[in-house]
Parts: sequence; structure tokens; C-alpha cells
Amino acid sequence: MAAPDSREDAKNRVREAADIVEVIGECVQLKRAGSRFTGLCPFHAEKTPSFSVNPQGQFFHCFGCGESGDVFSFVMKYHHMGFPEALETLARRYNIDLPRRRLSDRDKVRIRERETLYHVNETAAAIYQRCLGSGDAARAAREYLRQRQVPDEIVERYRLGYAPAPENGGWDFITRRLQAKKIPVTDVERAGLAVRRERGGHYDRFRDRILFPILDMTGRVVAFGGRILGDGKPKYMNSPESAVFDKSRILFGLFQHRQAIRRSRRALVVEGNFDLLLLAVHGIDNVVAPLGTSLTRSHVRLLRGYCDEVVLLFDGDAAGLKAAMRSVPLFLAEQVEGRVAILPQGHDPDSLVREQGPEGIAALVEGASPLAEFVFDSLVQTHGLSLSGKNRIIGELQELVRQSDDPAQRSLMASHFGEKLGVAPERFLARSAAGRPAPAGHGPADAGQAPAMEPVPRRERQVLDFLILYPEYFRDLQEAGVEEVVSGAMTCQVIDALKRGATAGPCTPEQLLSLLPGEEERRYVAGLLMREPEVDYEDDEARNMQIQSMCKELITWIRLFRHRKNGGDLLRRINEAQKKGDTALLMELLRRRQEEERKRTGFSDNLLNKM
Ligand code: UTP
Ligand code: MN
Repeated sequence: MAAPDSREDAKNRVREAADIVEVIGECVQLKRAGSRFTGLCPFHAEKTPSFSVNPQGQFFHCFGCGESGDVFSFVMKYHHMGFPEALETLARRYNIDLPRRRLSDRDKVRIRERETLYHVNETAAAIYQRCLGSGDAARAAREYLRQRQVPDEIVERYRLGYAPAPENGGWDFITRRLQAKKIPVTDVERAGLAVRRERGGHYDRFRDRILFPILDMTGRVVAFGGRILGDGKPKYMNSPESAVFDKSRILFGLFQHRQAIRRSRRALVVEGNFDLLLLAVHGIDNVVAPLGTSLTRSHVRLLRGYCDEVVLLFDGDAAGLKAAMRSVPLFLAEQVEGRVAILPQGHDPDSLVREQGPEGIAALVEGASPLAEFVFDSLVQTHGLSLSGKNRIIGELQELVRQSDDPAQRSLMASHFGEKLGVAPERFLARSAAGRPAPAGHGPADAGQAPAMEPVPRRERQVLDFLILYPEYFRDLQEAGVEEVVSGAMTCQVIDALKRGATAGPCTPEQLLSLLPGEEERRYVAGLLMREPEVDYEDDEARNMQIQSMCKELITWIRLFRHRKNGGDLLRRINEAQKKGDTALLMELLRRRQEEERKRTGFSDNLLNKM
């Protein structure tokens, strides 16, 4: 164990050779700021740079979201790689030989298999692409794309291809072409491009289809989606899952659109590949499409690295509602804002953008409702708010809450819905999976122990950290109504301490530390204070400007959040009025809600103009 670890050695050599500024600089726009570099953090959405790279220490830190580490952790997190792959990637790039023999045989086989799959898919993509580009065999395919108004530059940008029909290319078109490039048929089969016949021999999986290469986050081809020309079944066919292709973790378009998504801080999720293409044709680039599966938690987590909010564009049918219901827990779990926009009857994003242009889509997106609200409103529409309707709604929401296996998340949902329906949150926790009452708050495992620190929503954590680092701005946030929007115990403690400390002028971070009663809070604050100097500024003025703009961003969020929350309170009162049969009050409240709604939309317009 004490013997020199040559792998460890290699790791250090790579670390020394790699230039963290260069590696990160390819993914993040960095600006020099004194002895450091700063930029917009790639791991959370922000408008003012709080991401800093330290070339002397060869580490990065974001004081917005707290992410930090060395060049390896950056590559792992940014490209969603494991450590060995990150090491491998950097070693290749900086020409460092890695000792191979420390890899277990199984690892070696796995790495080789993945490399093979990348190579086969990449080579095939080029062949399919060339096939679409020229020759009589692909004439119908080119005509089909023309009909669907997909121009050449889009064909090129997404590297669309064509797999010829058997009457033109034979039944083993791709196998023969790949074999000519020294790729054995077993590898073609492993990549899912050829299917083995029972009686021996192979035939092509994709025949007479337009092919969409699916890329992972390093831009490598990991699979294909294939659409038939015109009608016919199945309409789409995708590569089978493999060592490099896991449908639940890959989104079509994310690699190509990652910058656009980051810039707009928002991702639109559409259902179809052609929806994505046509939106791109009309200049809407912040779009992804899952590959014929509903959104998974991994998808949401993946998107979270690129944006603040995700807007789902659904067809207005029952399936859309179901899909929205299913995704509520995913968004809650990942702390991502989810909203839903329902397309007008008979439209999908493809047809809508062709009919109404990008403005039509923009309007749809602006009007999208928050996910939980959407689900709630749809249930109210279906069941009504009569006593029995309400019970049915509670039943459906109970089911939704029950699906989550995370106790903290369950109570989050329960209190949210409880507030909306004006009933005790416990109603939604009525039955746990085993059919007995679930304890509110925390699971059976930690009964008797102190509950673990509750998860704090991402925005609230930004507020918390900001208040700790810049207590002099407490008054500004207080005036914006910060106390109405935070709920975490830690945040409340800190605000309490700030109030007590502010008797004679604003208190300093160090005073704050001494004012906090709890050990856990003090540890958190101390940890944060120790990390802070990593961001340094040209001068005091630059520092102040940056802090002020962070403060403004938080205030904007606080206001928006309060608007939404007030809407929820109103809804509860509407419920009560309905229950009591107080029509006059009901009318008055409904009128107020409409007004709130108008204010809200006006408000988000403002917000938009500032972006
Ligand atoms: P759609 O039928 O909505 O796709 O299916 P689309 O792209 O809008 O189709 P057209 O070309 O305009 O008619 C949504 C997605 O579901 C997957 C595909 O990824 C498709 O883009 N799908 C659909 C399949 O995997 N298999 C199928 O048979 C159909
Ligand atoms: Mn379509």
C-alpha cells in the first residue's frame, strides 16, 4: 500500500501538465481578474460571474453554487465522466502515458468496447451522411426533408443521414461499408446497426430511413434515431441501448444546443426529433428531445447543469397531462423549475412554428404554468372542487406523493398541495408504500435521531450564502420581502441573527458567526467565509458593482416568488369560498386572481426585457 502507485504518479503528472485555465476555457468564457480568471458558472445558471479559476492553485470554485475542485473534477462534472475516463481524456490531450497494467481485465474490456462503439457509430454516421448527400438512392429522402422544410444547413448541422432501402443498398449496406473499413461484423452488431439472422448472416437495422445521430456530451455519436419516409410503421426506430447509449441519460440536441440553453438559462423539451429541427430552423436553439421515452430524473439532472428552468411543450391530450404528472417529482427532487405549455389543439411545435413563426412559440413559453400548478389546475378541471371532487384530487395527489421514495421530497410535495387545497399536508402522506401512515418529514430509519439538515432549494441557498457573505445588503433583501420566501431552518436562523446584529448598523460576517446559536449553522457560515476570498476583484468598485448586481438578481427572484406564492394563497381562499357557498366573495376573489395573473404576466415581461 505504501509502495509508489504508478497510477497515482501518472495522475500527478497529468495534473502538472494540464492547464486548468485552458481546459476550462474551452467550456466557459473566462476573463482575467487579477491573478484569477472568472466567468459564468457552467454548473448553475447565473448572469453575473461567480465562477473563478485559480491558475496557481490549479483549482476552480463557484461561490454561487459552491462547486469546486481540480481539473479532474471539472472534466468529470462537465462531461459527466467517471474519474478513469477523465484521467484518460486529459492524459491523451497532454501526451502523458498512462500505465495500462493497473487496469483490471474487466475494465480493459469495458474501455475497449466503448471505444469500439464510438468508432463504429462515428464511421457509420459519416457513411449515412454521405449517402444522404448524393446519389439517386437518397433522392426520395432529400425530397422528404425538403417537403418538411428542413434546409441543407440544418441537415449539415445535425449531421442527418440516410440509410438506403434494400432495393438500392441491399440488406447489408452498412455492414459491407463498415467491413471495407476494417470493422468486423460483430462490432457492427454490437453497435446495433446490424441484426443477426437466426439462420446466420446479418441484415441492416436501419433501412430506408432518415437518420439522426445522437451525441453524448463530448460530441461523440452514441446512437441513431431513424424516421421512415412518409407513413409506415414503426415511424421511428432507435439504436438499442449499449455500453455508450443509455436512453434515460441522453437527450437529442443537448450537445448541439448546450450554449444556447446556457445563454437563455432555459431549456424547452419537445417530444419529436422533427419538432427540434423545425424550431432550430426558426432560430429557437434552446431545445432538447428525449428519445421516445418520458423524461427521467437523469434527464432533469443533466439539464440542470445548463439552465434555471425547463419548459415542457406538450400536446393538449390526456397523455400530456399524465407526462406532466409523472415529471413533478423529478423536478422537485432536482430543484429545477419546471413549467408546462400546452400546444393548441392539433398542433405540435413543428406545425406551430411553421404557422406562427418563433413568436408563436415564444408566446406559448411565456404563458407556461409552473408544473405543480398545471397538474393541480388540470385535476381541478377534471374533478371539480365539490367535496367528492376534492377527495378524488387528494387521492390522485396522494398517489403522486407516494411515488417518490425520498421522504424530504414527499413532505415538500405534501405541504405544497396542502397549501393549495387548504387541507393539512398529512392528508397527502396518508399511506406510505407499505400501506401504513408515513411519518411526516423524515423516514422511519432516522426515528429518534436528530433529523438530517433539510435540503434547501437552490435559490434559497443563493440567498442564504449572499446574506452571510454580504450582510450589509440584508436591508435591501428584507425590503424586497425575503422573509416571506425562505423556509429553511438555516436561512431563518441566519436572518434572525442578522436582525439581532443590525441594531447599530449592518453586522459583519464575523459578528454574524458569533450571533448564531446553533453549531451546524456556525459551521456552515465559517465554511463559507473561508472560501470567499477565492473570488477577487480588480478593485473595490468592481467588487461593489458585482455584488450589487447579484443583489438585484436575488431581489428580482424574491419578488417573482412572492407573486407566485400570493397566487397560491388566493387559490386557497377561493376554495374556501366555494366550500362555504359564498358566491359574492368567490366572484371577488376570482376577479382578484385574474388581476394578479395580469400583474404577473406584465411582471415577467419586464423581467424578460432586462435579460
Ligand atoms: P412523434 O411521432 O411525435 O415524433 O414521436 P415527430 O418527430 O413529431 O414525428 P413526425 O416526423 O413529425 O411525424 C415523438 C418521438 O418519439 C420517438 C421519436 O424519438 C419521436 O421523435 N418515437 C416515436 C419512437 O421512438 N418510435 C416511434 O415509433 C414513434
Ligand atoms: Mn411531428
